[in-house]
Amino acid sequence: MNILLLGSGGREHAFAWKMSQSSRCTKLFIAPGNAGTSLCGTNVELAVTDFDGIKQFCIEHTIEMVVVGPEEPLVKGIYDYFKNDPAIQHISVIGPSKAGANLEGSKAFAKAFMQRHKIPSAAYREFNADNYEDGIAYLQSHATPIVLKADGLAAGKGVIICQNHVEAMAEFELMIQQAKFGDASKKVVVEDFLSGIELSVFVLTDGEHYVLLPEAKDYKRIDEGDKGLNTGGMGAISPVPFATETFMQKITSTIIDPTISGLKKEQIEYAGFIFFGIIKVGDDPYVIEYNCRMGDPETEAVLPRLKNDLVELFEATAAKKLHEIKLETDNRQTATIVAVSGGYPGEYEKGLLIDGLDLLQEDDAIVFHAGTKQEDDKTVTNGGRVLAVTSFGNTLQKAVEKSRAILDIVEFDGMHFRSDIGYEFY
Ligand code: AMP
Ligand code: GLY
Repeated sequence: MNILLLGSGGREHAFAWKMSQSSRCTKLFIAPGNAGTSLCGTNVELAVTDFDGIKQFCIEHTIEMVVVGPEEPLVKGIYDYFKNDPAIQHISVIGPSKAGANLEGSKAFAKAFMQRHKIPSAAYREFNADNYEDGIAYLQSHATPIVLKADGLAAGKGVIICQNHVEAMAEFELMIQQAKFGDASKKVVVEDFLSGIELSVFVLTDGEHYVLLPEAKDYKRIDEGDKGLNTGGMGAISPVPFATETFMQKITSTIIDPTISGLKKEQIEYAGFIFFGIIKVGDDPYVIEYNCRMGDPETEAVLPRLKNDLVELFEATAAKKLHEIKLETDNRQTATIVAVSGGYPGEYEKGLLIDGLDLLQEDDAIVFHAGTKQEDDKTVTNGGRVLAVTSFGNTLQKAVEKSRAILDIVEFDGMHFRSDIGYEFY
């Protein structure tokens, strides 16, 4: 079968790497892809939100399955676009309907959904220009820290943890009155602050059944010791030591099962991944956020541990037969370290030569590309997060050491990475 994968980051290189190993995959195309994905299939110059262009491409190349990496096309309704068009409705789309993608596309929708289905999550209120004064009064009377969330997609920047009332009211004003995040912050969710350790939990669901993938933990801050600015993710580990069987059981019974049955009850079509951003408060799991896609860089730590054929999993998803699948995972530890451009998450240069990629001959390690581009015979930087190196190890420390050793060989001007991924668990 011919498959089109949408996206261009480390997550998509990991998908492409895994799918290209499947005997079910005839031709793999990646739009727009990066230098790494071009080693697994053919890159196509198409934007992930160019639905008409994607449709034409699918028809011309007899694509039978579209796998959607990032959230934006999902929130914009790519699933529905395919299902409502007789010319392409036979093509399987791996990703939720627009209504399902709202779990990520609207924080207010996600909170109300959790409330309807009694899924544990922080207490909240939602405000907009109409009840703005109520919002101010609510903030004034509420304990701090307090969390403000732009309702819509805001490129991962829409969540602000405010330490005091002055900051909270200023941010609230900026979001609602000054459109700090454009339309995304016309509505704001104000949520209680939860204190605990975070965990990324993933399922692949066909809307009726689901399989639970290996869990992961990501490291969002730019500097070691979880200091400095928030990034898209500087590394990830899988498995996660505190994700014990008992804790995962609690997540399954109080969060995953009610989410899947809630989607079903509300007749929301969902054939794709759900990423549960979990926080452990005391011994109990709470949902911090839903995403309608896999995590990045978590995917780079999770997929190498998956023994199943990923394309077969996707076929079972499209056929609503996931209950027939048994997941098999590699018990070893993975650790992913992300190498980023100098200056990231602020301004950074692109087009810098990446050296040393041809010298790598490591067993048990994979160099996933994130922001890279092929220019003739050279691989150059093309984004903030440039590479995501995943290694296996019998211990966490060994896995981290191996990824680190690889990043001693690879080099580009200004390269920065964290050596302390997984540090709390050594
Ligand atoms: P999000 O953009 O939804 O992924 O949120 C970004 C980050 O903000 C999360 O990964 C958490 O670290 C933090 N966060 C979000 N909501 C809360 C909350 N209610 N309490 C504490 N931290 C939160
Ligand atoms: N690593 C977090 C995310 O993908 O949203």
